[in-house]
Amino acid sequence: MQIKRLAVLVSGGGSNLQALIDAIQSGEISAKIELVISNREQAYGLTRAAQNGIATHYLGIKNYPDSNARAEKLNTLLAAHQIDYVVLAGYLSILKPETIRQYEGRIVNIHPSLIPKYCGEGFYGHHVHEAVLANGESESGATTHFVDEGVDTGKIIYQERVPVLKGDTVETLSARVLTVEHQLIVRTVRDLCSGSVKTSE
Ligand code: GRF
Repeated sequence: MQIKRLAVLVSGGGSNLQALIDAIQSGEISAKIELVISNREQAYGLTRAAQNGIATHYLGIKNYPDSNARAEKLNTLLAAHQIDYVVLAGYLSILKPETIRQYEGRIVNIHPSLIPKYCGEGFYGHHVHEAVLANGESESGATTHFVDEGVDTGKIIYQERVPVLKGDTVETLSARVLTVEHQLIVRTVRDLCSGSVKTSE
């Protein structure tokens, strides 16, 4: 089987990226991360990538103030690296429709809730967990899905539940969800690369 070429897009700590790096190193995922891109210059995910010898690119407001030019640069990079799959791993920016159409069925995202709950505009990072706690939910979880032109509306690939425990804070709940995210993102990318998750139907 041909090794799939991945681009991983991050905005923050990059712990999901790290889970992918580890799973590729251990042979669980048959793929190579060709490049890591961030819309935040200081994202620790870029450091993790560089530490692992992966090419990194910052594409943000500072170096590409015009969002169309930024999107064009992203498309150029993805094409130049012959990317098979784009993984949004905590990427807090919206891709342009052209990119989404070009890579239809080949872009996946991970979201820290049980979609369709607590997703869409404004539901990212701690906002998700705050809302889950404020509503007294007894469970939350994580979802991987294909990316379409909506926000968190694409076809769901996998979901995993976690309990909300008495006394949970945003910190304890997000840490529990993040642990599950790491397993879910590995399973999703592994199955995508092996062809056992169909890209479209
Ligand atoms: C994760 O909760 C992810 O689902 C969300 O942002 C967080 C990123 O964590 N979109 P990390 O950067 O992978 O550590």
